[in-house]
Amino acid sequence: MKIVSVSDPIQKDMDGTPFPLVLQPQANEDFTLADFQNWISENSIELKEQLKNHGAILFRNFPIQQPEDFEALIESGQFEAMPYVGGAAPRDKVTSKRVLTSNNSPSSEPIPFHHEMAQVPNPPAYIFFYCHTPAQQGGETAILFSPRIYQRFRDIDADFANHVEAHGVRYIRIMPPEDDPSSAIGRSWKSTFLTDDPKEAEAKMQNAGTTWEWLDNGNLRTETATLPAIRTEPRTGQKTFFNSMVAAYTGWVDARNDPSKAVVCGDGSPMNREAILATAQAMDEECVNINWRQGDMVWIDNSLVLHARRPFEGERRVLASIAKS
Ligand SMILES: [Fe+2]
Repeated sequence: MKIVSVSDPIQKDMDGTPFPLVLQPQANEDFTLADFQNWISENSIELKEQLKNHGAILFRNFPIQQPEDFEALIESGQFEAMPYVGGAAPRDKVTSKRVLTSNNSPSSEPIPFHHEMAQVPNPPAYIFFYCHTPAQQGGETAILFSPRIYQRFRDIDADFANHVEAHGVRYIRIMPPEDDPSSAIGRSWKSTFLTDDPKEAEAKMQNAGTTWEWLDNGNLRTETATLPAIRTEPRTGQKTFFNSMVAAYTGWVDARNDPSKAVVCGDGSPMNREAILATAQAMDEECVNINWRQGDMVWIDNSLVLHARRPFEGERRVLASIAKS
């Protein structure tokens, strides 16, 4: 079978490299899911190399019909599964092994740019999406090349960028005891730590260097260890905007959380409001909006690329999976 890279109007040029890479079957090629699985399996090393170079791959017009197909393709790529521990979003398990719903948060709310699980010490190397049902309106997944937004962030305010780079950041979030589907950050502490037992949750937080406080109403206030905001990508030497500063500062709002208090510098000083808002604007200028079609699959190198979700109308079903390596 022949699979070709095509150019698409959504792509952007990242210093000579198209972002994302778009792969399709060659016209008139008829093949099955099993063929596609074999192809991925035979090319898994090269595909990872392409993810490193392009940041993301959009697979379009392939025979992917069910969540199980999506799961089988990820397995064929020999990606190492990992549990979803510590993320903020409410999710449901879809397949037996490794496919979850993407963030179940309300359709009217955008989900701001983030590297998946940037607020935990060991975030996934890859995140995968599959579109089972596109939204009627909106609902694009936007992707953003992290070295590019790091450069824009520096250009906006070099002093603040240096400060954040030197001191890192901490995230503060109040979690409910039960999942709150009305909130984009409504994941309960029980779901977050995969336990009903407060002691077990405490052990996991202790392990991650997170400090905590149990509040009167069963809520849990957590403050992460100081985490680096800027990372140097070891494979390419590029600096990446590996943090959730903008997401937390503009998006972590609900009945329990005040976003202006959701992230602080590692030395306890507050964010620079103007710099954060200007960076949010730059993100929208530099990103690519993936206009989902049924059966689309996107693979993202989570070290190099941030993602976001646009608000939508209708029954959107986009599923997700993550991998350690
Ligand atoms: Fe995400």
